Amino acid sequence: MLLVVGGTGDLGGRVVRLLAGQGHQVRCLVRDEASGLAVETVRGDGSGLGVETVRGDLTDPASLRAACQDVDTVVATATAIGRRLAGRPGPSIREVDGLGMLSLVDAAEQAGVRRFVYVSYAGVDAGLGTPLEEAKAAVEDRLRHSGLQRVVVRPDAFQEIHLGPIGRFDVANGKVSVIGRGDAKQRYVATDDIAALVAAVATEPDPPELIEVGGPEAISRNEAATIASGFAHRRVKVQRLPAPVARLAMRLLKRRNDGVASVLGAGLLQSLHDATWTDEPLRARGIVPRSASDFLRQEIT
Ligand SMILES: NC(=O)c1ccc[n+]([C@@H]2O[C@H](COP(=O)([O-])OP(=O)(O)OC[C@H]3O[C@@H](n4cnc5c(N)ncnc54)[C@H](OP(=O)(O)O)[C@@H]3O)[C@@H](O)[C@H]2O)c1
Repeated sequence: MLLVVGGTGDLGGRVVRLLAGQGHQVRCLVRDEASGLAVETVRGDGSGLGVETVRGDLTDPASLRAACQDVDTVVATATAIGRRLAGRPGPSIREVDGLGMLSLVDAAEQAGVRRFVYVSYAGVDAGLGTPLEEAKAAVEDRLRHSGLQRVVVRPDAFQEIHLGPIGRFDVANGKVSVIGRGDAKQRYVATDDIAALVAAVATEPDPPELIEVGGPEAISRNEAATIASGFAHRRVKVQRLPAPVARLAMRLLKRRNDGVASVLGAGLLQSLHDATWTDEPLRARGIVPRSASDFLRQEIT
């Protein structure tokens, strides 16, 4: 049995569909009726993917202990950042991504879970001090010292988020935001490709402990804006936020708005240095990754 925590989310939902579609027994932690319905949609094609749901919350350790019973592998993709950015009420990034995930590791250990697949992000060790970075680093550290077989997946920025309007890459409105100089090479990666990787390492016999991974194309944010502008046949205005200003804003917002502080950190990360990771972990598993340019072409033309 695989327990997916975060299975009502974008990446998590794709992982649930893949695992269940491959015939694995999947249990999905859902927080409430509405999230439960989202999982129903996952299996709602009539073919009966057979996903079991269990009510629980990362902020409720007892629910995590119950959810982990008879589980062989936990796959943890959950994060509070989407809700925080949407301004919805609820627990903080520290409470969910930090303390909540740590409770999940405890619960998994106590229940005798064998493998724990954890989705972190590439560059988490940059030491920027954002709430998300602190939470992810603490969970990675806890896993390192646990008795669980850990598989930490650190993907680069998702194309759908960071090369789309939500990531202030709004080609339709002719505006792209860049933190810093914007010339460090990223490996923007497709969410589907990371879902396929996460599903693979959840079930393959001998996965690595740590996988840093990105898409096939190393491309800076400036280059992405130029490519997008070419596909759109329109001028794209690049709005620049100097890195020192972003750093200051990040520090000031850390307590007042943990979501925005973490997003500023993600932008800063993209301005720091070229990605040192590649798409090799995807290709090694037969996943043919989509390039950032192909994503932009599909989205824009
Ligand atoms: N975006 C990027 O560029 C990027 C890059 C690298 C890594 N990542 C990582 O990839 C993952 C993204 O996953 P995603 O796309 O599926 O995120 P998402 O769409 O925002 O979904 C978040 C999931 O977390 C669940 N969740 C939130 N608070 C919870 C709580 N208190 N208890 C239990 N579950 C809770 C949500 O449940 P509800 O549906 O009930 O809200 C939902 O299932 C994250 O771990 C992120 O850090 C993202």
